[in-house]
Amino acid sequence: MEYKLGILISGEGTNMLNIIQACRNGEIQSKVVTVISNNPKALGLKKAKAHGVNIKVIDDKKFNNNAEYEIKLSDYLFKNKVNLICLAGFMKILSKRFTDKWNQKIINIHPSLLPAFKGLNTHKRAIDLNVKYSGCTVHFATNKVDSGKIIDQEIVKVLPTDDEFSLKKKILMKEHKLYIKVIKKMEKLNE
Ligand code: GAR
Repeated sequence: MEYKLGILISGEGTNMLNIIQACRNGEIQSKVVTVISNNPKALGLKKAKAHGVNIKVIDDKKFNNNAEYEIKLSDYLFKNKVNLICLAGFMKILSKRFTDKWNQKIINIHPSLLPAFKGLNTHKRAIDLNVKYSGCTVHFATNKVDSGKIIDQEIVKVLPTDDEFSLKKKILMKEHKLYIKVIKKMEKLNE
């Protein structure tokens, strides 16, 4: 199945860019129809635009409440016929109403071996605890932070010389591969 992907970002957008490139070079069949950011200053917006992808800012701070924000977000995704939402560094928790509406159609990437180290400062917490292995996870998103059924994971060995920055770099490289692998797997499963 060829998905119409809607990628939600808040920052750098390296996972987003990697998905755009995988669509372009035929590694995956799906197409990125829109990149949406809640943060108008997200660096990823410029990167998507430079690649000719439709970008949209839906700034959550400009809405009276979260429900209104999510209605706008949902409407925009429907309007663009998105049938798989990829959260890629989207730093906002979605409500149950939203995740129920898009049931099994929202996937998220997180830089740890979930259910370990949900939330922020993942790499620092992993280093402080002296873990020997970390990694990344792609999972179906729910209204709870970094929770939901796991689709796939990649493992990274943490070396004694690693700090939070080197670990972040190593895991990000694995994230890029994992996200593509998962989209490919979902395309096959839903053929
Ligand atoms: C990635 O490491 C992603 O796993 C993480 O944000 C980073 C975004 O980087 N997401 C979370 O922590 C979600 N809880 P990117 O914007 O360069 O893709």
